[in-house]
Amino acid sequence: MKMAKKILAVVLASMFVLAVFAGCSANKEENTASEKLVLATSADFPPYESIGENGEYVGIDIEVAQAIADKLGKELVVENMDFDSIISSVASGKADMGMAGLTVTDERKESVDFSSSYATGIQAVIVPEGSDIKTVDDLYADGASYKVGVQLSTTGDIYFSGDIADGLTSCTIEEYTSAQEAISSLATGKIDAVIIDNEPAKSYVAANDGLVILDTKYAEEDYAIAFAKGSALTEEVNKALEELIADGTVKQIVDKYIAA
Ligand code: ARG
Repeated sequence: MKMAKKILAVVLASMFVLAVFAGCSANKEENTASEKLVLATSADFPPYESIGENGEYVGIDIEVAQAIADKLGKELVVENMDFDSIISSVASGKADMGMAGLTVTDERKESVDFSSSYATGIQAVIVPEGSDIKTVDDLYADGASYKVGVQLSTTGDIYFSGDIADGLTSCTIEEYTSAQEAISSLATGKIDAVIIDNEPAKSYVAANDGLVILDTKYAEEDYAIAFAKGSALTEEVNKALEELIADGTVKQIVDKYIAA
């Protein structure tokens, strides 16, 4: 009996010591390790996101995300991936949020939640100088058989694939995992046109001789940040974003990358 009591006392005492230590180390962790904010993006889309001269991530989305992380006191971690993987990695919680010149669409709203919009985009068409394609309508002309390149799963892809499926155009589509690949294919004459958002279109045309953007716009859209459905982050990030829009920070970042 005595022995049993002693053992019990020792067990209880060591449990207490363990509990105290566990408590301490848990507290320590909370106080020192700053929480991460993991951003899923596809860094092939200047001026929204691309890889800078020193291998660092640069662009409007990266700087807005950094400003949000600063406001929330979190450490921004950029995860670069194919555009096609962004929505699923956000929806599955692998990344905390997605920013990629990402257009708000009803279909995407079925798998992710969106913040307020912080920018707008217009789908544009890039062709080689002197192309027979003079306006967007030429892609929809009777018997048109142009090869049109898009980045996989982008709205350009969704719209044009839809138009082909609906029999509105007899052109064909080539889907590329990266925007850069689509542009390289166009520059080397493998395809006849690329549908891509207007600001990246301007950046790519500036960086590649012999390409021009058609005057006619294809479609207008809103860019926003994507979150897992019901994510606790949505509200705090959105609040930070709205403050950054209201105090002019977002405009300042945009103006740094896009000449008025
Ligand atoms: N705005 C288009 C979309 O949401 C294209 C975005 C492509 N973004 C990128 N980082 N490559 O579908």
